[in-house]
Amino acid sequence: MSNEVITEIADGIMTVRFNRPEKKNALTQTMYGTVAEALQSADERDDVRVILLTGGGDCFTAGNDLNDFLNNPPRGEDTPVSRFLKGLTRTRTPIVAAVNGVAVGVGTTMLLHCDLVYAGEGATLHMPFVNLGLVPEAGSSLLLPALIGQQRAAELLMLGEPFDAATAERYGIVNRVCADAETESVAQGVAARLAAKPPEALRQTKDLLRHGQGERLRERMQLESGHFTERLKSPEAREAMQAIMERRQPDFSQFS
Ligand code: COA
Repeated sequence: MSNEVITEIADGIMTVRFNRPEKKNALTQTMYGTVAEALQSADERDDVRVILLTGGGDCFTAGNDLNDFLNNPPRGEDTPVSRFLKGLTRTRTPIVAAVNGVAVGVGTTMLLHCDLVYAGEGATLHMPFVNLGLVPEAGSSLLLPALIGQQRAAELLMLGEPFDAATAERYGIVNRVCADAETESVAQGVAARLAAKPPEALRQTKDLLRHGQGERLRERMQLESGHFTERLKSPEAREAMQAIMERRQPDFSQFS
């Protein structure tokens, strides 16, 4: 198992920690695969009642690794990223997230699948898909407008600009903003409270809260994934991602 994702189990809580700080915890295929396995095993293990997703003190995750997008894009149906996304939507174990620093791309959209989200006051959330020549993923084109309203979702997904933890809290993407140094301990405390609840009642409560979402969500994720995979091969996306890696402004004037 790669040490770029660290999984620990204690007191009923499975902590899944993104641990690639030198790359802002950008997620590689290997990392997605490891988290997908952890999500699946959480449901199968009697000693896990809650999952805590975190990236540690400085950053949650800068989203999909851009080098992977350019050089090793996901192909076919059964990819690590799709296993990860399916795991997020299917797990019956409650998920708590602790978000510090940047949460970019899937770093933000995965939060829409978490049950409770705590963010540090310095956290920055960002869904820059359109700026990368891409489209929203992880069901966010369905879940985000349902959660925050059509116009706000359009603003976040069509302008693709970063927003702060206070805005995320006001929109209901985040439950509570904490001091940066306390985010993880606040989330851990909440996870411990959940872990002490009657587990099947808690799982059924989660199921009921998300009831009715299943089929529509799966359909939307499939639609998004088809567009996303096509877009990754597009000249717009290549220009956008190469520009980021080369630390220059992209030039979209050549595209019609
Ligand atoms: N994929 C691959 N590498 C990434 C990455 C990503 N998604 N995000 C950051 N990194 C790397 C940087 O290339 C840099 O590597 P280097 O030190 O070898 O040059 C390192 O992580 C630190 O990033 P840096 O840009 O110097 O940090 P920052 O604090 O100035 O900015 C971000 C942080 C996250 C705002 C910025 O790195 C960024 O915008 N990254 C791209 C995010 C993105 O578009 N993700 C995909 C969404 S679909």
